[in-house]
Amino acid sequence: RVLIIDFGSQVTQLIARRVRESGVYCEIHPFNNISDSLLDEFAPKAIILSGGPASVHWEKSPTAPVRVFDMGIPVLGICYGQQTMVNQLGGKVETSEHREFGRAFVDVVEDCALFSGVWAVGAREQVWMSHGDRVDSLPEGFRVVGKSDGAPCAAIANDDKKFYAVQFHPEVMHTPHGAQLLRNFTHDVAGCVGDWTMDAYKDDAIAKIRKQVGDGKVICGLSGGVDSSVTAVLIHEAIGDQLTCVFVDHGFMRTGEADQVVNLFRDHYNIPLVHVDAANTFIDAIEGEIDPEVKRKTIGRLFIEVFEQEAKKIGGADFLAQGTLYPDVIESVSFTGGPSVTIKSHHNVGGLPERMNMQLVEPLRELFKDEVRDLGRELGLPDSFVGRHPFPGPGLAIRIPGQPITHEKLDILRKADAIYLEEIRNAGLYDAIWQAFAVLLPVRTVGVMGDGRTYDYACALRAVTSTDGMTADYFAFPPEILGRIANRIINEVNGINRVTYDYTSKPPGTIEWE
Ligand code: XMP
Repeated sequence: RVLIIDFGSQVTQLIARRVRESGVYCEIHPFNNISDSLLDEFAPKAIILSGGPASVHWEKSPTAPVRVFDMGIPVLGICYGQQTMVNQLGGKVETSEHREFGRAFVDVVEDCALFSGVWAVGAREQVWMSHGDRVDSLPEGFRVVGKSDGAPCAAIANDDKKFYAVQFHPEVMHTPHGAQLLRNFTHDVAGCVGDWTMDAYKDDAIAKIRKQVGDGKVICGLSGGVDSSVTAVLIHEAIGDQLTCVFVDHGFMRTGEADQVVNLFRDHYNIPLVHVDAANTFIDAIEGEIDPEVKRKTIGRLFIEVFEQEAKKIGGADFLAQGTLYPDVIESVSFTGGPSVTIKSHHNVGGLPERMNMQLVEPLRELFKDEVRDLGRELGLPDSFVGRHPFPGPGLAIRIPGQPITHEKLDILRKADAIYLEEIRNAGLYDAIWQAFAVLLPVRTVGVMGDGRTYDYACALRAVTSTDGMTADYFAFPPEILGRIANRIINEVNGINRVTYDYTSKPPGTIEWE
């Protein structure tokens, strides 16, 4: 196990990704929350200090706990992690005239365990840098193994203590051999064996669920999305029919989606499943409402109420299962302290656990999204579920902007959306896209079909690429594919006579329209 101490870098999560990809389990903890008991219980084989926006020259600069350097285990400092390591161990960090941002080159001047098999003495290697300060003089026992134009101590090593530190970021893609450098640290230097695989994780997770739940009853809200699906199947494998799933169908699902969920979980996996058809309740509740936040909050509140009623009917459940993922669990490091602005309130069912006074079972808390997908495959979930595009909790209700939502409009949107996704699949593009969907616009436009005039709705198509949904770019379709999709929608969907494509990236746009 490797402990990553976070100093607030934008890319700390990537360190964890790279370490896990090499088969080593790791966790990220913020620098100001590393207690002795955490160090004792976690018992890391090695520690990595992340980068961050601070400077060691700040009055209250963040530091690593002194014990980190006294535990007799290997430590790797990255960027700010290097600077604080050097500063804490008695070296010197200066504010540099020569700042480096983005692509830079490191001259390998001496051999060291980090470079083994990838970087040879005399080579000039591409790396990615982002720093103003730089290390100028080394603590005792260290030697320089790599230099760059802006950082004379771009890579340093203390072989006796197994302390290594680099000014550049090995965790990002733009440092081509970075993943191997990290692997050299965790495997060769720290002696980790790389046996953390999804298969092993699955067995371990099943054992943990059995231990936590005993012979108690668990209920799980199932939406058909990747996270809740994997949670349900994993828990079912652990405790069988002590699990009941509740699928609240709010009526804002896409074509055929509700049936797919029922077929897969009830018929294929034999998981006890309550299917609540609450479409009318939800649509009545947001009737006439066009404010996106009010819609989201109303749907979230109703979801909790309906779920709670069903849970009461099942009766006697002690545990609530949730598909919480690791990125939701990692505590963030904040140096500004100010409140951040709410762009959209995404936490549809936040508040459910508190209200229901049940214990939580969260078997995905340690996993990143694509690890959850791997686990789903390991559990035999079909690719059509595991590889699904994300779909927002409030569903199609936030894809009919600026107008009252009706059953009729939902039907029109469903048909357009189904054609769009079918054509994307046919073109083999589904997996190249993070998310694709249609939006029904609140404008009618004039058209001509046959010899007649039409006056129907316009719809917008959106498709984006992204890795985490935080930033996104529009997907560049080959024009003939977009043409074919538009043509089919206009010909086959009654009520739409014009199709547009959305070329907005995020930022400044968001992925959904509201
Ligand atoms: P935005 O529109 O904020 O979307 O760029 C980022 C990702 O979040 C999804 N999304 C939501 N998910 N409840 C959810 O569960 C919501 O209210 C919600 N709004 C947006 C969106 O589909 C995208 O994947």
